[in-house]
Amino acid sequence: MKGKPILPPVYFSATYQFDCTDDLVDVVQNRTGFIYSRWDNPTVFEVEKILANLEGYDNAIGFGSGMSAITTTILTLINKNSRIITVRETYGGTFAFINKLLPKLGIQTIDVNCDDIDTLKAEIKKGATILYLETPTNPLLKVIDVKPLADLAHKNDIIVILDSTFASPINQRPMELGVDITIHSATKYLGGHHDITAGFVCCQKEYFELIWDCRRVMGGILDPMTAYLVARGLKTLEIRVLRQNENAIKIAKFLSKHKKVEIVHYPGLPSSPYYEIAKRQMKGFGGMLSFEIKSDFEGTKRFVDNLKFIKIATSLGGVSTLATQPVTNTHVGLSEEERKKSGISDSLVRISVGVENPDLIIDDIKQALDKV
Ligand SMILES: Cc1ncc(COP(=O)(O)O)c(C=O)c1O
Repeated sequence: MKGKPILPPVYFSATYQFDCTDDLVDVVQNRTGFIYSRWDNPTVFEVEKILANLEGYDNAIGFGSGMSAITTTILTLINKNSRIITVRETYGGTFAFINKLLPKLGIQTIDVNCDDIDTLKAEIKKGATILYLETPTNPLLKVIDVKPLADLAHKNDIIVILDSTFASPINQRPMELGVDITIHSATKYLGGHHDITAGFVCCQKEYFELIWDCRRVMGGILDPMTAYLVARGLKTLEIRVLRQNENAIKIAKFLSKHKKVEIVHYPGLPSSPYYEIAKRQMKGFGGMLSFEIKSDFEGTKRFVDNLKFIKIATSLGGVSTLATQPVTNTHVGLSEEERKKSGISDSLVRISVGVENPDLIIDDIKQALDKV
């Protein structure tokens, strides 16, 4: 047949047939092929290779969600005597897993405000199994200076894990900062179209076998169709993210001059306390920003409710611009005191900037601010 498909097939097969038992045994013992799709799948394998290459690691391991990637990785690496140091600003699901679930198993966990570098360093010097970081953070877009912390962690035999979801592989290369294991919720920028949930772990060979084996046991692998959609998303990742970076800068500048806006949290603004670190550490400042409106809970809700072009939705990193008031969803579980401590005010709005014409986004924000 002339004319080959330009796209690879999606392998839906749950199991794989062999010419003889010796071949099957070879695959079981030496991983020379595929045997069962909870272990591995050709479509998943292809997208893992692409992502590993993009992040600069030997391997990537795919999961059905970012949380599955995170929980499987941590459970792989700990034992009953483990100690985990994490930053307080981690994603809510990660925070709950590390600081609420793991202590039930006797694991010692310590969370430190990511701006409190002295305490972070002091905790690292005490020793731990894992230093778990996330940068930029949600929803205040704080940027952690990773390299010095990773270097100190390595001196103390600590494995460094970083959730790089907010940056995407286009804006940040954690491997170059000394990070041992980089995690992405592919639900966000990697997929990029608001239509999948998936997660990936990127690492060198020494961790790959262990995490891969734990994925096989715990069953968190993503399905072949989702793997195909991630591979499709990755084809446009760079152009999407570059556009989102450009759009976000324009929006952040517009907001920072608006009389109804108290403060804009965006590491790409020279006024941001994280500007210098971000400039050094990141290749682009990203498509996420947040800002506080000079109003109360109701006034801020009115702003969000009056958005017409921008969609009210949680999640992030896709082609469409989304807005949320974090106290109504992602941070609804925090007490008033915890919110104050985390700097999440009633008047905070988070925007995940999409790839649309920036004038349409800015016009929408402008008209909604007029209603506050
Ligand atoms: C930074 C970050 N990490 C991890 C996750 C969890 O990913 P998922 O929802 O794909 O499980 C999220 C989800 O919002 C996130 O924002």
